[in-house]
This record gives sequence, structure tokens and C-alpha cells, in this order.
Amino acid sequence: MTAPLADHRAQLPRPTRLSEVKGWFFTADQLLFDWFLAYQRTAGHRGDLLELGAYLGKSAIFLGARLGDGERFTVCDLFDSPAEDTSNTKEMAKSYATLTRRAFEANYLAFHDALPDIVQGLSSRVRDHVAEDSVRFAHIDASHLYEHVHGDILAVRSLLTGTGVVVLDDFRAEHCPGVAAATWQAVANEGLRPVCITGTKFYGMWGDPEPLRAALLEWLAGQDGVWHEVQQVNGAPLIRISAKDAAEPAHPVSRYRAAPGPKAARAPEHVPGSVRRGPARPGRGPLRRLAADWLPPAVTRALVAARRGRTARR
Ligand SMILES: C[S@@+](CC[C@H](N)C(=O)[O-])C[C@H]1O[C@@H](n2cnc3c(N)ncnc32)[C@H](O)[C@@H]1O
Repeated sequence: MTAPLADHRAQLPRPTRLSEVKGWFFTADQLLFDWFLAYQRTAGHRGDLLELGAYLGKSAIFLGARLGDGERFTVCDLFDSPAEDTSNTKEMAKSYATLTRRAFEANYLAFHDALPDIVQGLSSRVRDHVAEDSVRFAHIDASHLYEHVHGDILAVRSLLTGTGVVVLDDFRAEHCPGVAAATWQAVANEGLRPVCITGTKFYGMWGDPEPLRAALLEWLAGQDGVWHEVQQVNGAPLIRISAKDAAEPAHPVSRYRAAPGPKAARAPEHVPGSVRRGPARPGRGPLRRLAADWLPPAVTRALVAARRGRTARR
């Protein structure tokens, strides 16, 4: 017997904050996504956003909150569709067995008023849905098998704008050597130029990385709790970054956020799709200045409003 529609709805997730959405998206990468996207906006690098591999939406929800006016966000995932080869089928059954597109959509709509453009299918088909030279920021996090990642890198190369940035997930993880092989092969043979790495992600581009590297190093120098060093790799500088002691950047606000108690009643009104900064840390004057310089206006407004709310409650 088919369960009534209301029963299905009751089983869909209703996250009250981004940390409740299952996925793999850590502080260092949140900070870097935030920084790269803000840098691009400030530098006038227009373009769309793309994510290959969304799972339940953790990084997609974060990315969607940083979409500029007139920009398009495309998310490609198999969700509950079958993969086409045995290794990918095995990977899906092992790692993402409970994933459904409806759960992704429910999560995403908890934080945003509208869904991104969803391509349900193999990432190898993404070129049929996204125009060449149109994407400013692409996150490759779909299959972690060598052939797929290699294909995704080549596809993204054709979709990125000249100043576009690609991020590769799990480029050095023990359980998926194919991602490492595809990543460094692209550096050696396909003209991919590294900008920086964290413990989980590789950030690179096919355009000139020097202006980005210089701006990133300047930003890193003023960050509390974010460690970095520069190593020479293949004749070019590569920035290593770790952010174990850093605060998370602004998160989008869930429409299911707990109803405010009497004390919180003066907090700013919730607007789905607006963003809220993680726990505030004392003595962050320079951060506020950087926020004003680098964050999208909507993010800055949310920060200022949240701060006013906190001040009013003291
Ligand atoms: C590691 S998860 C993505 C995690 C997500 N970005 C996050 O931050 O939580 C990988 C996703 O890739 C999808 N996937 C696996 N193989 C794929 C393929 N060949 N094409 C498209 N999506 C695929 C899976 O369904 C899964 O949702």
C-alpha cells in the first residue's frame, strides 16, 4: 500500500541549522569557499556556480547563499538514479545508499526560497546542461573513481571562465587514490594550476593564479586560527591551509530555526536565504573590516543585523 503524501513529507528532513545537514564540508573549506566567492565578486569576476555531487546539500546550501544577482547555480547528482558502471554502482551503494533527491530538495529549501537548477544524472553529462566559459566556481565532489574524476576535470575546464576556480574534493584521501591521480595528472598534463590545498580539498584554475594567490596570502596573514605555509610544487607556489581553531563563516539561516525565546525576540527577523555568522570571537576588529571588503552585501547586512541583535541583548 502506498503511504499518504503527508506521511512522506513528515519523513523529509527539516534542518534547523546547516550543521544538521549530513555531509562533508569542514571549516577550512567553508572559509575558503567564502573567500574565493567574495574575492571574485569584488574583482568583478562574474559567472555561474556549479557543483558536481551534492549528496544531501551541505556544500550546495552554502554555495547557494553566495550566488550573485543574475547568476545561475547548477547542481548535478545521480541522487536515487542508477549509476551506469559497476564500480560507480558499488560506490553509490556503499557510501550514499540513503540519498534521495527529495531529501536534498527538502534540505535546500529549508535555507533558500528556490531550488538550484538540478541535473539528475551522471556528471559526465553536465556539458549538455551548462554553457562553455560560463562558470566562475566549480566544486567537483561526485564519483571519487579515477575515470569519473578525470572526466569531470576535463568537463569543468571547458565550462570555467578564464578566471574561474575549480575545487576538487578528497584529492589526497586514502580511500580514493583515483582522485589524487586525476588531480595531479591534470596539473602535470592538462594545465591545471594549483592555488591552495586544505586537508580535504584542492583549489586550482586554468587562468593566471598569481593575483588570487597574492590576495589569499594577504587575507591569510590577518586570520586568527588559520594556519598556512607555502611550498614549491612543480615550479610554482602552493599554499597549504589548516583552520582547526577558526570560527566558521556565515551560514545561511534555516526557516526551521527554533522559535526565538523572550530574550532572542529582539534578534533580526529570519529571512530564508540570508546568512548568519558562526559563534563570534572577541577582538576581531580586522575581520569586520575584511567582511565589509570581501563579503557579498547580503552577507554583510546579515552580519551587521546579527551583531546589532547581540548588542541589544547584552
Ligand atoms: C561526497 S558526496 C557529495 C558531498 C557534498 N558535496 C557535501 O558537501 O556534502 C558525492 C555525491 O556524488 C554523487 N555521485 C556519485 N557518482 C556520481 C556520478 N557518476 N555522477 C553524478 N553524481 C555522482 C552521489 O550521489 C553523492 O551524492
